[in-house]
Parts: sequence; C-alpha cells; structure tokens
Amino acid sequence: MNSTAFATAHPNIAFIKYWGNRDQALRIPSNSSLSMNLKELETQTRVSFDSTLKEDHLFLNESLESGTSLERVSILLERIRKMAGIDFFARVESENNFPTGTGIASSASAFAALSCAASSAAGLNLSERELSQLARTGSGSASRSIPGGFVEWQAGEDHGSSFAFSIADPDHWDLVDLIVLVSLEHKETGSSQGHQLAETSPLQKIRVEDANRRLEICRKALLERDFQQFAGIVEQDSTLMHSVMMTSNPPLYYWLPETLAVIRAVRSWRKDGLPVCFTIDAGPNVHVLCPAAEAGKVKGKLGALESVNSILECHPGGPAHLLDPEISGV
Ligand code: DP6
Repeated sequence: MNSTAFATAHPNIAFIKYWGNRDQALRIPSNSSLSMNLKELETQTRVSFDSTLKEDHLFLNESLESGTSLERVSILLERIRKMAGIDFFARVESENNFPTGTGIASSASAFAALSCAASSAAGLNLSERELSQLARTGSGSASRSIPGGFVEWQAGEDHGSSFAFSIADPDHWDLVDLIVLVSLEHKETGSSQGHQLAETSPLQKIRVEDANRRLEICRKALLERDFQQFAGIVEQDSTLMHSVMMTSNPPLYYWLPETLAVIRAVRSWRKDGLPVCFTIDAGPNVHVLCPAAEAGKVKGKLGALESVNSILECHPGGPAHLLDPEISGV
C-alpha cells in the first residue's frame, strides 16, 4: 500500500498568547488564545504511508531529521494510525518558505499541514474541529492554523473541548504583521520547554486568571476594527507573557537590546498618532502590527532603525487545506 496526500498551512501570530498547559501531553492550554494566520508564510507537507518502510522518515527542507523533531512527528502519526486502524510507517516531506526557530511559529504551520496531509493519506475524513484537536496535540498553536483568518482557540478542559475556530474571515480587516527580524539565531529554549516552566513563575496564576478579560477586549476590538483598543490589549498581553517568562525558574529572557529598541520606537510612533503596536513570541523578533493603509509608512520608519535586520510583511491568511499531490512543491 502507498497512499499519499499533500497539504499547506500558514503559521499564525497570537494577539492573546498561549503560555502554559493544564495537560502537557495533550496540550490542553491554561488559557484561551486569539490569533491571525499569516498569508505570505507557508509550510507545505507531503505524507506517504508506505508498507515497505521500517520506520517513519522526516525530511525538513530536504534534510533528513532525527531526534526530537522526528519523535514529535511520529507521536502524531501514531495517533493517526490508531484512529485509522493502519500500521504502516510514513515518509513526511515538509518545506517552509520562512526561517525556522526565530520566533515565527514554524511548529504551528508544520503540525497543521502534517495533520491535514497525514489524516487524509490515512483515509480519514476529519472535520475542521477534529483537525484542530489533532493538530493541537502536535503543537498547541497549530490548532489555530487549521481554521482561516482570525482564530480563537477555546482552552476547554479535555481533548474534545479544546479546539480553534474562525471568528472572522481574512478579509474582515486588512491588518498587517511586519515581522521585524533583529536576530536569525536559533532560540535557546523552545516553546515546549517554556510551557513547562510557566507554572514556576508567581505571575502565571495572575496572567491566567485575567486571560478571559483580555481575550474579550481583544475579540471585540478586532470585530469592531478598533485599532486603539486592540493595540493596548495586545501589547499588555504580550508583555504579561514575557513577564512570566522572565520570572520563571530558570528564567527565560528572549528579548535582545534590539527588541527593546523596536518596542520603544513603536510606542513613541503611536503616541504621535500612528496606529501601530507590537507583540513578541518566544524569540527576540518583533511583530509590528498596523492597518494595511499605514504599512508603507511604518515599514519605512522601521527600516531606518539601526536594530532592524530585515522585515517580512504578512496579511491575514486562509485555512490549512489539501493540495493536489501531483503539483510540484515538496
Ligand atoms: C509564544 O505552540 O510553539 O508563540 O505546543 O509546545 O508546540 P508547543 O508550543 P507552541 O507555543 C507557542 C507560544 C507562543 C504564543 C502563542 O503562539 O500563542
């Protein structure tokens, strides 16, 4: 038997962050989160279940992987094999059109595309909700890369109740994410280890208890396209997460001096009336958000800062979906 499927997914940027799990193995998060898919960035993944293979093989950007990344993929494939009642190993070929491990959540698009392709190759016909639940077990944020546009991940309390859904289509609001790369170095501590440290910070409890309030303000601002409301809550949420990171044991300092230089510049531009704000994931790079109409101006200002290496411009993206396995790509 040889059954192949090919899928694509976008990474996403969280406006209200996921940090910490109630159940590490199933990735049931401590709080609900909210994000936007990033159209210009993409992972394409081809999965073939093949009865002649003796183990799973993973190729990432054409290089054969072993260790943790292969283990994480195999755990997800094992879950799919159980669901489909098959026992063949798989060959997985995955390609990103953006740099991995720099605070752009590559695991989100990777596990979303993998869930889509592998479940289809295994003969399963999963709903969007089931795909989001499945992708979540591979990487929490991947649950948010299954639906399109602006997405909410309801924390839930078990596998069945923890999944993501769209709250608005990509064309609801042309919000731009200017990803400001201040460093291309691979991060020291990945998110998976970071989530396990969250509870060691005395601030995590406070962050989690207040999460629904922030999420509601952010959802309302998004639905009403109210940038001022949106900016304030997005920055507060990101900085709360980084406060937890910096006060964990051991502490996680993702920011570089260049990160803070961009934060300070963005805040001063907003004070001067420009609709712009920032959010930062588990890395030093800064996601600078603004309405599309202002993107040219903001990009020009960012480009003039000494701390800025390069900038990627992303607009709201669609859902993960299957591609024709005959077309080129991976
Ligand atoms: C800081 O989804 O990458 O980007 O579930 O261990 O794969 P795992 O973690 P991951 O964590 C993302 C953390 C974040 C915030 C967010 O995207 O909500």
